[in-house]
Amino acid sequence: MGAAALTPGPVGSLSGVAPIGSPARLVVLVSGAGTNLQALLDAGSDPSYGARVVAVGADRDGIEGLARAHRAGLPTFVHRVSDHGTRAEWDAALTASCRSHDPDLVVLAGFMKLVGTEFLAAFEGRCVNTHPALSPSFPGVRGPADALDYGVKVTGATLFVVDDGVDTGPIVAQAVVPVEDDDDVSRLHERIKVAERAMLVANVGRMAREGYTVIDRKVRFGL
Ligand code: GRF
Repeated sequence: MGAAALTPGPVGSLSGVAPIGSPARLVVLVSGAGTNLQALLDAGSDPSYGARVVAVGADRDGIEGLARAHRAGLPTFVHRVSDHGTRAEWDAALTASCRSHDPDLVVLAGFMKLVGTEFLAAFEGRCVNTHPALSPSFPGVRGPADALDYGVKVTGATLFVVDDGVDTGPIVAQAVVPVEDDDDVSRLHERIKVAERAMLVANVGRMAREGYTVIDRKVRFGL
């Protein structure tokens, strides 16, 4: 199982990652612990998964996510916004590094930066992000805290195709996590992450093996 480059369809439609016999190439971007990355690394060690991580990028040094990539023997790259004159230059460098690994899918797995216009143009329809809340509720970096503060009884995680908004892209999958009376942000987020990793692995695998379309915001597996 594997992947072909995404072929843009009619306006409002995108299709991608069709099986052609070799595993889909994943470039994963991280900013922290990298447990979602690790889940993808572990899944990809089984050839039947249909996708494997080929490179890992980050927006900062010294994070466990990069250490996980090094232990897996993978190439890594780091682009810190502060090392570039403008945000657009940072985005161009990030785009070039991702492109150099010829990904079928770019996975933002705890990547704490918004990608820019060049990146979006390069990987339109071929970039997914995982967010620790049930979209469209609680976008942004405080998803678990905002859900807890609001007093919701369920929250969870959302896998979506990246667009130019903040956690607004077409939804691939969601996982529901009940909020418990004695939760604090860290306890809740850790439980969300357990569900999030399973959701990420299951659905990236399906995207790679089955292909998918995005039409009028509806993401469906199969081409
Ligand atoms: C995940 O919950 C992700 O959705 C959020 O930050 C967390 C990253 O976890 N943006 P990890 O680095 O994959 O362990």
